[in-house]
Amino acid sequence: MKLAPSILTADFGRLADEVRAAEAGGADYLHLDVMDGRFVPNITFGPLVIEALRKVTRLPFDIHLMIVEPERHLDAFAELADILNVHVEVSPHIHRTLESIRRRGVRAGVCLNPGTPVAAVEEVLGEADQVMVMAVNPGWGGQALIPRALEKAERLRRLIDERGLATEIEIDGGVKVSNVAACVAAGADVLVCGSSVYNADGSVAENLAALRAAAEQARAELVRKP
Ligand code: DX5
Ligand code: ZN
Repeated sequence: MKLAPSILTADFGRLADEVRAAEAGGADYLHLDVMDGRFVPNITFGPLVIEALRKVTRLPFDIHLMIVEPERHLDAFAELADILNVHVEVSPHIHRTLESIRRRGVRAGVCLNPGTPVAAVEEVLGEADQVMVMAVNPGWGGQALIPRALEKAERLRRLIDERGLATEIEIDGGVKVSNVAACVAAGADVLVCGSSVYNADGSVAENLAALRAAAEQARAELVRKP
């Protein structure tokens, strides 16, 4: 299980330290939420901030574009990203968009809002390195996970496995120690965790360790089941 802390609810006045803490705490990716005030109501940050963070950490960057017309900005973000994720709802030519991300030498991800069916990405699973299942309506950190999103992840898992694809499933939104087992059971490969890392009781490292322990325990229990 890969853990991808999202800095959305970190302390932006100490952003470099917050990112270093995630790396030291054993994060697998750094999840970066780019919002434009149009696709989602909120506005966050763009390439300048991400470029500054590139100098702070060696963590792979999992960039989540919540912007309209993502195709217009692929060049700027692709050179900073290890994985570049675009929403299918704003990308009518998603097949071409995913191909053009991969052509830039970056892993391509496609994201689905809670109200978007699996069918919207079914035809491009082979072009995607990861599918990001949103378990909250995007825009803010700290929201509660929508359980139905995990049923969708499960259906996606089945499709991906049936086709023998290596496409990974990332769950984004509301992931906490208390629901990590359900995410594991749904077939997640990557968990985005924002407030459960940066706004929970422990330190960043302690919170990451608790999430990892919950994921490992859930995996072990799944294996034990007949
Ligand atoms: C929501 C973002 C998420 C968010 C996750 O729009 O895409 O990545 O930061 O934060 P939590 O884990 O607090 O839901
Ligand atoms: Zn995100």
